[in-house]
Amino acid sequence: MFKTKADLLVEFLEAKREVSVEELSTLLDTTKEVILTYAQYLEEAGILSMKFRPTLKLVFIKSPEIGVQFKDEKELINKIKILLEVNNLKAINKILYDLYTISKKTKNEKLVVMYKKAYNFFYDYLKKIKIVDLGSEQRKKKVKELIKEVDNYRINADKFFMYVKIVKQEFELVPYYILSLLEYGSVTEIVLNKVKDEIIRTISLKSVPESEDEQSEIENEFKTKLLEKLTYLFPEIPETKIIALTEYIKLVTLGIGEIEVLLKDKNIEEIVINNANEPVWIYHRKHSWLKTNIIPKNEEIIKHYATLAGRVVNKDITLLNPLLDAHLKSGDRINATLSPITTKGNTITIRKFASKPWTITHLIKNGTLDYTTSALVWFAIQHELSLLIVGGTGSGKTSTLNVMANFFPPNHRIVSIEDTRELILPETLHWVPMQTRMPNPEGEGEISMLDLVVNSLRMRPDRIIVGEIRRKKEAEVLFEAMHTGHSVYSTLHANSVQEAIIRLTNPPIELPKTLLNSISLIIVQNRNRRTGVRRTLQVAEILETGDANILFEFDFIKDQMKPINKPKRIYKTLKLFSGLTENQIRDDMKEKIKLLKYFVKENIDDVHEIGSIVSDYYSNKDYVFKRLFKKTDLK
Ligand SMILES: Nc1ncnc2c1ncn2[C@@H]1O[C@H](COP(=O)(O)OP(=O)(O)OP(=O)(O)O)[C@@H](O)[C@H]1O
Ligand SMILES: [Mg+2]
Repeated sequence: MFKTKADLLVEFLEAKREVSVEELSTLLDTTKEVILTYAQYLEEAGILSMKFRPTLKLVFIKSPEIGVQFKDEKELINKIKILLEVNNLKAINKILYDLYTISKKTKNEKLVVMYKKAYNFFYDYLKKIKIVDLGSEQRKKKVKELIKEVDNYRINADKFFMYVKIVKQEFELVPYYILSLLEYGSVTEIVLNKVKDEIIRTISLKSVPESEDEQSEIENEFKTKLLEKLTYLFPEIPETKIIALTEYIKLVTLGIGEIEVLLKDKNIEEIVINNANEPVWIYHRKHSWLKTNIIPKNEEIIKHYATLAGRVVNKDITLLNPLLDAHLKSGDRINATLSPITTKGNTITIRKFASKPWTITHLIKNGTLDYTTSALVWFAIQHELSLLIVGGTGSGKTSTLNVMANFFPPNHRIVSIEDTRELILPETLHWVPMQTRMPNPEGEGEISMLDLVVNSLRMRPDRIIVGEIRRKKEAEVLFEAMHTGHSVYSTLHANSVQEAIIRLTNPPIELPKTLLNSISLIIVQNRNRRTGVRRTLQVAEILETGDANILFEFDFIKDQMKPINKPKRIYKTLKLFSGLTENQIRDDMKEKIKLLKYFVKENIDDVHEIGSIVSDYYSNKDYVFKRLFKKTDLK
């Protein structure tokens, strides 16, 4: 850890309790002005107070790491006792965690002892009330680890690093995701935060830049000011590190706060702000829902973030228009709502954009799909069958749709229609992405999904992708398009094949059941709520009657796909469309499986690379097989 003079200042102060500014200036070999600037920030943070007479002195109040300050162990134990009486185990957890962190960080003997005492006291109490003795050995062992770091890693944010620690504590259902600059002492972090706040007050809340030019002007001004200030405050930090710190502060100040750093953590799928009184929550790929140590300063700042996001897509969020759907410059999808519509405060939900889109390789590797199902779907897509991907919220519908689109041939014209751009198709494809638009504040200029679906039909598409089917009119036009020979790919919110059919044939969508037979396959995506694991749950064919025949279903016990019913229609259709016999179809699928295995073995998981191999495969199969399987031999 790098200790700056600000850290040392507090250390001196803690040891001596009261030191004159004069003396500190000599001790730390820095000017009185710098000391006073630190002092001002640290006074605001409640770490010290300034005494002006008879000489200018700084007086120690509390150590920066611990929220609650204790004189000695006795006071600490008393505090814990009081909290136990009111059954506030969470507050005890917080105290223990603070002590644990600081004693680990500083290795201060006194604190280590304090932590151990508090820990043992709490543990004994738990034993007394039989929490510890209850249950198995395993449970006992678990409770013995009152604080457990379940994960830690570093986020590389281009120009600087951040550190993440995931901590689980007894009696906290939700683990904490703790983001820090680790490299610096906590006093330095406080000073940096104060500098950041000071600059937020002067720049970002005042205005949201109107144009790119204005944005970069503000950025430059900000950077210059900041660099100057940091060099002044911390001459002891090497220049490269000062530049990294400047980048960090710039990012979190001009953008959407520390959320910007969360956006850089590839493990995070979703970021949720509920209001300014609660920590920001995230959905983590490995650890599911976590609470972060980031709490928005106030409701205003959440609204400010929403406004910033709105600017990217030219939308306003106001009391009259309190709902906003937009995407960030990074491409991440964002939704914002203002209080009082959301009664507890302003909210923001960010669905992170997989900058590297999911591909079939990922899905097979992580067990979402198996080879046989993938090959069947591939074959169906190659021969222009329409399909529907259904699933619950966040189950992976859009990702699967994106994966399937990699199987389109390069000589087909593809039009995609989405509310917010999420899909990324291979460069090899002939693709026209389209996006809907909300009306402006005067209510003009709306381009709805229906407008785009109708328009797309005049663009001579071979394949139409529609982000999600929601309304009757869109559904009618889409099914009409299928009937007139277009292949359509879309998603629908439903948890099973049955539910999908019920949804499609009942209000509000209310299609006649016989129309459904233009869809050939329905794929159901599922996310296990408890484990967060995503699997393809069912694959079904649609019969002439519009009923479904389930072909495969996922067996959660064996963790694999299981054939359910014999196909009745799909092979007939495939034979008709491909002109191949059933045996030839089987051989073709074997070839596809061979290619898929090659993708997995060679780790080919880039959308463009897969697109290019698939397109070569369509145009010259023999060439592709010769080229690829010279190297590896897969049977
Ligand atoms: N097969 C998968 N395995 C693991 N994670 C996945 C898988 N598919 C998608 N994800 C992740 O799950 C999250 C949700 O994915 P996606 O946006 O595709 O879901 P969705 O069903 O379309 O959601 P929504 O209902 O919001 O439209 C994303 O962060 C994505 O990266
Ligand atoms: Mg989606």
